[in-house]
Amino acid sequence: MKMNRHYTEMAQSYLFSTVNKKVSEFSAAHPEREIIRLGIGDVTLPLAKPVIQALHQAVDEMGTAEGFHGYGPEQGYPFLKDAIRDYYAERGVQVASDEIFISDGAKSDLANILGLFGEDNTVLVPDPVYPTYVDDNISDGRRVIYAQAGEENGFLPMPDESKKADIIYICSPSNPTGAVYTPAQLKEWVDFANANGSVILFDAAYECFVTEPGKARSIFEVEGARTCAIEICSFSKIAGFTGTRCGYTLVPMELEREGMNLNKTWLRRQTTKFNGVPYIVQRAAAAVFTKEGMAEIQHNLDYYRQNARVIAQALEECGVWYCGGKNSPYIWMKCPGGMDSWTFFDWLLENAGVVGTPGAGFGACGEGFFRLTAFGNAEKTKEAAQRMKQAIASL
Ligand code: MLT
Repeated sequence: MKMNRHYTEMAQSYLFSTVNKKVSEFSAAHPEREIIRLGIGDVTLPLAKPVIQALHQAVDEMGTAEGFHGYGPEQGYPFLKDAIRDYYAERGVQVASDEIFISDGAKSDLANILGLFGEDNTVLVPDPVYPTYVDDNISDGRRVIYAQAGEENGFLPMPDESKKADIIYICSPSNPTGAVYTPAQLKEWVDFANANGSVILFDAAYECFVTEPGKARSIFEVEGARTCAIEICSFSKIAGFTGTRCGYTLVPMELEREGMNLNKTWLRRQTTKFNGVPYIVQRAAAAVFTKEGMAEIQHNLDYYRQNARVIAQALEECGVWYCGGKNSPYIWMKCPGGMDSWTFFDWLLENAGVVGTPGAGFGACGEGFFRLTAFGNAEKTKEAAQRMKQAIASL
């Protein structure tokens, strides 16, 4: 019997599990304290009414002989794939329905897609970034190198000839910093990947938050991306599906490496290892793209944007440096008083009863920073902002 020893090379627990454990311990020790959680990027608004109606209708269908659905197509039902195709087309991005694969969420596909690539590939990961990219590759035994991000490059690392890799991760808008690439910047990455035979895994989970003109929402806005990129997206952030689970992955037909077509290989993988997302969930996801669905969802996104403004204003008032929060639900702040990320986590919990995510959990370059999410309840976010202001002012 041989275990996958690579698991021993990873941090003992996943970032958000560590945060949860620390908060539970704090709450157990201080049951009287009301804690406000602005840590994990989990949504708080209920699902939109058109989504709930679609769920109800699909459940009813499943109880009839005519409407019952057993195993579905592993890559997703055409009604949902076509709706996603049209969502992209509205922004001038052409993807075909058979380039779209429905999944149970971006996190799963970000890990599963690695099954297409050998273990002796080198992987380039931005630092700081969503921690699963590193964990997914370390647990497979791949070599990970880092593209450093900081204030000096606006948290948007650019290609560097001294850092070539087979697999390149890009997360834009970035989790955790909220930085967003322009199409011109992404073109540099696309040209770099095409020149080196790399594949870009583009995490677009937060694309719905982009409002600033001139910022990219999809890598497929960029010429040349179809021969080097895979895009992974989610219904979690756009439509509150964190507990409902649905996402999608776009694998262009033109993408080939070592004589293998990645779209065909991914289809082969999915048909073998995946039985698809439940019919009722796919009906709910399709309702997101209806006129009524989109209207309610935009309203919800505005609610979270307002939370971001509340947090940003509090930080401005106490003179704390931050970025993000404009095209992203995350505010990325510098820890006040020169504290390191985990010290500030403990300090903020103790002094304000507010939970955030330590920047160091997203990579070494995140040390000294801290992430706050705008996905909370509006009243609680206001209260958290007020408490943080008071606590920081006392420093
Ligand atoms: C986060 O807080 O970074 C995200 O919510 C985690 C996730 O989407 O899995």
